[in-house]
Amino acid sequence: MNILLTGASGNLGSAVLPRLVKDGHEVRPMSRRARPGWVAADLASGAGLAEAVRGVDAIVHLASSPTKTRKTDVEGTRRLLAEARAAGVRHVLYVSIIGIDRVPLPYYRMKLAAEAVIRSGGVPFTLLRAAQFPTLIDVLLRGSSKLGPVLIDPKLTFQPVAVEDVADRIASELADGPAGGAVPGAPAGQPASGAAGQPASDPAGQPASGLAAQSASQGGPAAADGIVEFAGPTVATLEELAREWLRARGSKRPVWPIRIPGRFGRAVRAGALTTTAKPTGTRRWRDYLAAKY
Ligand SMILES: NC(=O)c1ccc[n+]([C@@H]2O[C@H](COP(=O)([O-])OP(=O)(O)OC[C@H]3O[C@@H](n4cnc5c(N)ncnc54)[C@H](OP(=O)(O)O)[C@@H]3O)[C@@H](O)[C@H]2O)c1
Repeated sequence: MNILLTGASGNLGSAVLPRLVKDGHEVRPMSRRARPGWVAADLASGAGLAEAVRGVDAIVHLASSPTKTRKTDVEGTRRLLAEARAAGVRHVLYVSIIGIDRVPLPYYRMKLAAEAVIRSGGVPFTLLRAAQFPTLIDVLLRGSSKLGPVLIDPKLTFQPVAVEDVADRIASELADGPAGGAVPGAPAGQPASGAAGQPASDPAGQPASGLAAQSASQGGPAAADGIVEFAGPTVATLEELAREWLRARGSKRPVWPIRIPGRFGRAVRAGALTTTAKPTGTRRWRDYLAAKY
């Protein structure tokens, strides 16, 4: 396949690019900066997008800006989809985040809006909602220990997923084709139901409960609305992650518990960023730590 890879220079993009090349795809990495062998384009202005999508079969869309999110992620994705539709692109795979509809963060609201743009974009799509990458947890713990002790809400709950595992999943989703798409004969942009038009179910066949049940109803390989959830092999509290992080760094700093107030804290403590969807990635937090420290 000819694939346009936005966000190719980023954390996830750096794992996805070699993975797709390994599968024999013709990959066109995209960046705002001119680089040999890459296409230069800017989602925020639209410059270069028409040339970037020309002749591609699929787009793996990873580019994102936590600071200029509306311009880049929402309006930029709209620009990208308009060009993709005009160019006859057959699959847009957008990497999103588990729990964006349950955790009140401005960045997450924008990601949700970007998902809606993709759903109504008239190009068959997959919304691959991933859990947090280990680098993000690492940055969070560094930031929390600037004053000495590790100041964290110990009960915040995560399911970190390695970017290499997400890259593998992206490769298999591309092979499987779009999980959602325009209904034939329907007005442009109207989404179909699930990948195979089947109701979503807990892929493990387990009774699910609470937020995890909501996740399972959205996730899984044949997810409704083209959403596929993908997380790491282990659900862990931030305290557990912090203790492994300290051990890996040979640090004796104490962990001082604080409580994050409000809806954000409640949702993340209750597991809103985790999923029961299977399969999960295989690489663990401790594997990331062993490689890094
Ligand atoms: N970090 C996490 O824990 C996590 C978890 C789940 C999902 N995700 C999602 O996964 C995706 C990739 O995340 P990441 O951590 O790999 O991101 P990242 O390292 O911050 O990289 C962001 C990328 O976006 C590109 N970009 C930014 N503004 C752009 C613009 N105006 N036009 C074109 N490209 C632009 C940058 O490319 P240039 O600078 O080369 O132009 C860069 O490659 C994001 O959509 C993110 O929301 C992240």
